Amino acid sequence: MVDATGSKYPDGDDEELPNQPEKADDDIRAAWNLRPRSLAEYIGQPEVVERLHIGVSAARARGDAIDHILFHGPPGLGKTTLAHIIAVEMVTNITHTSGPALERPADIVGILSNLAAGDVLFIDEIHRLNHSVEEYLYSAMEDFKVDFVAGKGAYAKTIPFPLKHFTLIGATTRAGLLSAPLRDRFGITCHLDFYADDELTLVIKRSATLLKVNIDEESAREIAGRSRGTPRIANRLLRRVRDYAQVKADSNIDLELAKHALAQEGVDSAGLDRLDRQYLTTILQNYDGGPVGVEAIAATLNEDSSILVDVVEPFLLKMGFVIRSSSGRKITDLARDHLGFPPTGGQVRLL
Ligand SMILES: Nc1ncnc2c1ncn2[C@@H]1O[C@H](COP(=O)(O)OP(=O)(O)O)[C@@H](O)[C@H]1O
Ligand SMILES: [Mg+2]
Repeated sequence: MVDATGSKYPDGDDEELPNQPEKADDDIRAAWNLRPRSLAEYIGQPEVVERLHIGVSAARARGDAIDHILFHGPPGLGKTTLAHIIAVEMVTNITHTSGPALERPADIVGILSNLAAGDVLFIDEIHRLNHSVEEYLYSAMEDFKVDFVAGKGAYAKTIPFPLKHFTLIGATTRAGLLSAPLRDRFGITCHLDFYADDELTLVIKRSATLLKVNIDEESAREIAGRSRGTPRIANRLLRRVRDYAQVKADSNIDLELAKHALAQEGVDSAGLDRLDRQYLTTILQNYDGGPVGVEAIAATLNEDSSILVDVVEPFLLKMGFVIRSSSGRKITDLARDHLGFPPTGGQVRLL
């Protein structure tokens, strides 16, 4: 595997490995080791896996590169993992880079011209591509060529440079921010959705085996239920519970210990973390339950609004804790109930 951003390991959201891998945090290292490496090993997202399986099998039978693929969905659901799996299944190399790392057209032209036939180019956070870089991708993706401009002013000449048939895999938390010409050039578009608790239980049991941790079914289920539908969070909570068990209980994880450790991590029974709860209580207490614009919530919380839109809101929307309308975000009675507030109308319910 080659990494175009210069580090030995590809970056993946909060799992980015620093430039000196020997100093990398154990958690980050472990996260890479926990990634499934084939479609058969991949848990959940059955429709996505089926479509990719068909795409890979057909392309391999033709001896061709698989079509360009776009993965979109909230962080931690498996976009980077799937990109690497595609390269493994296609028995090819993967070059891993990200939108913000490609600053100038020369960066992308350099990478493209080094790709061999069938290679995968993975661009994470593809919605953050510089516009001038993005334009080079249009002809690269469609016609497998880039136009080099040599010389300046009146002497400038455009030289077409042919590329090998590669596969571009893009990942984004916000498909809506992609320009139409870029979005349309992906032959396969897959949306990753939150995982069901049963699937996350399997993810946790698999990771526990890899980490050589003893965990019973109930405890795996308890962690799964509090993981915000997200495998990355499930793995992180498993590691925290493991640490806790190691220090307090001879390394065996049972339900009581799992609950205790999860409470210490600030995760509640619905899987909401501190920021989720702060977001909800801000709307409730500062904005009377809404509707309120996301920028106002972000300013009150002193957070970046894109964190709220990309990370916090998708899960709260899915849980039915907030609704989004043209006038802003509004809290639901379900959220009021979860946080122990009386429902709309302000009266405390008398049971
Ligand atoms: N289907 C899955 N089965 C098991 N583990 C998974 C699965 N999908 C993701 N993971 C785990 O979750 C973590 C985050 O996945 P990643 O691909 O980095 O998410 P994304 O790129 O969407 O943010 C990875 O470390 C991986 O171990
Ligand atoms: Mg990623």
